[in-house]
Amino acid sequence: MAILKLARMGHPVLRRKAEAVADPTAEDVRRLVGDMIDSLDDSGGVGLAAPQIHVSRRVVIFRVPTPEGKSGELSVLINPEVELLPGAVATGWEGCLSVPGLRGAVPRATRIRYRGFDLAGKLVDREAEGYHARIVQHECDHLDGVLYPQRMADFRLLAFVEEWRRYGEEFPLSADE
Ligand code: NI
Repeated sequence: MAILKLARMGHPVLRRKAEAVADPTAEDVRRLVGDMIDSLDDSGGVGLAAPQIHVSRRVVIFRVPTPEGKSGELSVLINPEVELLPGAVATGWEGCLSVPGLRGAVPRATRIRYRGFDLAGKLVDREAEGYHARIVQHECDHLDGVLYPQRMADFRLLAFVEEWRRYGEEFPLSADE
């Protein structure tokens, strides 16, 4: 397994619709996920999609942080599908390893259901809310060539990380319908 260079905004692979995986249990998929885990752990992010390591296939991985802020259990989703459930839309801060140095406030559905396959070929079928739902929507967007700035409603809420750390709490973010 290897730590791979991450594609940054502007690279065509991030705009492409990624290809479905024919066999989630195939050896090359296992290797791809291994590389994604190494690359994610090296970067310190919470999630990664295959196109971010220049592989245009429908695979995402993520770790939802625990309430104490610790790194959570790893999820691997192959050929994921996201269904937005009825409920509020909330605006929250996001960053992306392909958009380094920036944070932006993005409106997202607060409740989703998602399905996909793990490396054993087993169906994963979960409901999620809040930050968990946000991470899944962000990562799965990568598979359709969408980066979070394209989801932003207000570009005044795009900031450099250093400034965001200093002033981010001054931005009024609210749950809207
Ligand atoms: Ni991202």
